[in-house]
Amino acid sequence: MIYFDNSATTKAAPEVVDTYAKVSANYWGNPSSLHNFGEQAFNLLEQSRQQIADLIGAKLSEILFTSGGTEGDNWAIKGTAMAKREFGNHLITTAVEHPAVHNSMEQLKQLGFEVTYLPVDANGRVSADDLRAAIRPTTILVSTMAVNNEIGAVQPLAEIADVMRDFPKIHWHIDAVQGIGKGLADLIFNDRVDFVTFSGHKFHAPRGIGFMYKRQGRKIAPLMAGGGQERNLRSGTENLPAIAAMAKALRMLLTDETAKVQRQREIRLAILHHIETFAHVTIFSKDLPVFAPHILCFAIEGVRGETIVHAFEEHNIYISTTSACSSKKHVESSTLQAMAIDEGVATSAVRISLDEHNTLAEAEEFNRVFDQLYQQFAKLR
Ligand SMILES: Cc1ncc(COP(=O)(O)O)c(C=O)c1O
Repeated sequence: MIYFDNSATTKAAPEVVDTYAKVSANYWGNPSSLHNFGEQAFNLLEQSRQQIADLIGAKLSEILFTSGGTEGDNWAIKGTAMAKREFGNHLITTAVEHPAVHNSMEQLKQLGFEVTYLPVDANGRVSADDLRAAIRPTTILVSTMAVNNEIGAVQPLAEIADVMRDFPKIHWHIDAVQGIGKGLADLIFNDRVDFVTFSGHKFHAPRGIGFMYKRQGRKIAPLMAGGGQERNLRSGTENLPAIAAMAKALRMLLTDETAKVQRQREIRLAILHHIETFAHVTIFSKDLPVFAPHILCFAIEGVRGETIVHAFEEHNIYISTTSACSSKKHVESSTLQAMAIDEGVATSAVRISLDEHNTLAEAEEFNRVFDQLYQQFAKLR
């Protein structure tokens, strides 16, 4: 089996599952309880928080646990809208965000907020000049992803940081769900960003757990009101087994990150340089430094994305149409649409997404199967 769908989700690591099971069995007290079982659970919660803070170079109080990327994105956006409404009603994001960001913005529009969607170039990237031009006196938030989940474009975060330094009061959120562990830490954890959101299941932690970095001093309204957990910002009894498991998964992910990233880059390029030689192949994630090392999006002209996915599945190779969220709804890729890619080509797009366990041998096997399927698909044209 070759699993090339890691941007949809990753397999939980055995060590991580082990931590989850041990914490469930042994630390079942409620971290808010005053007795010994509660105290033990609380200590483990704060140890996990400290471990994650240390791994990303943040302070203990800057790490807040969530249920994943969707909650983190909703929170950064709606929590800012609620906290900063008196200062303005304008938000800026990009035309290529994940639905967790896009649809949060659309909900806020229903409530009277104004949203600017920055256009992207042929590589799916926004321009810092467009951002600067879009900023108004009423702008309260800028939300930009680190790595696009459909084509792997890395947004120009260093240039965006330069613009944002001139507007210190505006909140800046980065959705780094696809960017963690991919050699982009310096870009993501820059000295200007205020909120960064992460999802555990994209790096071998369990589903339904994530975390948000919130710069100290920045104000955000809670979306979950209740018993006051997470420093009064996100109520609900903490999912301690998943939190401890996520801390472990993050430590494992970031160990030898450079070598792992280099290997993913080599695998990506081995496939890219093979398939680009075929006449009816269009590559969206090019061999350029502005693309992440682990995502490769391409189309085979005249063949629907679903057909390509199922054809590879017959060979035990798992890829996806451009994103797991859109694939079952048969909607066209929003990123490719924003890049003004012809609809006919966009419906033929598929995505390969790697993790640190994939190998060059798997890339070779993929290429062998690709040759075979390409011949078969010729009959469909
Ligand atoms: C860029 C991006 N943001 C947010 C999410 C949502 O994360 P979760 O599945 O943890 O809700 C995803 C998931 O695919 C994503 O790729």
